[in-house]
Amino acid sequence: MIAITGANGNLGKSTIQFLLQKVAPTDIVAIVRNPETVNEFKEKGVTTRQADYNDYNTLKEVFKGVETVLQISTIGVDTETAKQQEKNVVNAIVENNVKHIVYTSMVQARPNTVFQGTQTQYYTEELIRRTNIPYTFFRNSMYMEAIPELIGNALQTNEIRYPSGSGKVSFVSRTDIAEAIANVLTGNAHGNQTYEITGNTAYSFDELAGVISKEKSITVNHVDISDEVFREELISYQIPVEVVDLLVSMANGIKIGEFSHVDSTLEKLLGRKSFDLNKYVKEL
Ligand SMILES: NC(=O)c1ccc[n+]([C@@H]2O[C@H](COP(=O)([O-])OP(=O)(O)OC[C@H]3O[C@@H](n4cnc5c(N)ncnc54)[C@H](OP(=O)(O)O)[C@@H]3O)[C@@H](O)[C@H]2O)c1
Repeated sequence: MIAITGANGNLGKSTIQFLLQKVAPTDIVAIVRNPETVNEFKEKGVTTRQADYNDYNTLKEVFKGVETVLQISTIGVDTETAKQQEKNVVNAIVENNVKHIVYTSMVQARPNTVFQGTQTQYYTEELIRRTNIPYTFFRNSMYMEAIPELIGNALQTNEIRYPSGSGKVSFVSRTDIAEAIANVLTGNAHGNQTYEITGNTAYSFDELAGVISKEKSITVNHVDISDEVFREELISYQIPVEVVDLLVSMANGIKIGEFSHVDSTLEKLLGRKSFDLNKYVKEL
């Protein structure tokens, strides 16, 4: 059986849709906080189990009889809470004789990154490596699907106000990632592999503005605002301060190149070209 944590999230749902084309629904276990959110899968015969990353007692029950786990990284705004959540999941996996862990990490994960999210995910990679259970790390670059949030209302104002300097991002389609994960979950020879999962080009925000201008036939410019102005603008939208900190750390990480790596592994796992940024932007 293959279990998926975060099964009602964007990546979890998309991965299950690809898995359903490859294995029987009864071989899939969707792990969620609220089972009602995956009724569509339950109706197809997928097993649903309830667990909260904060509650170890629920987690240790949900991996029973499972051979392969897709551990989808937690959202984790507060790094210490996020690390504890990830640790709870890994400990519960270890207790249940799981044979393979596929974990969603961040591109070029390493210690002491500026982006706080990558710190948590590198920590989790270390925990998983120490279990001695064969693993596959999907070190995903920034989702293309994050672009609407990153550019805000740029299509109306013609400005992308973002403090990323000339830092580049190798945007990657979340749907492509889901398909590649489904291939790995059902394939062989992926044990103890670390895959850098990226689009095939990295774009600065100036270049992203250029793509948007071309595809939408408007003029959009990137305005490289200061961290302070970015912070003030986020707070003016009532965004909680810990989320603001996370978002500033992400912009700072982009600025110094933490999301710029480009790698061809995704296309190898898919056996085809990855989804093109221009096509995504055209549909915005
Ligand atoms: N590479 C990128 O650009 C990028 C961007 C955003 C996120 N990420 C990372 O990739 C992961 C998957 O992305 P996504 O788009 O699928 O995110 P998503 O749609 O926000 O899904 C997050 C999932 O985590 C679950 N979750 C959160 N806290 C939980 C808890 N305490 N116990 C159990 N489940 C919990 C959520 O369940 P509920 O519905 O119950 O909250 C949801 O299923 C994210 O969690 C994040 O770590 C990467």
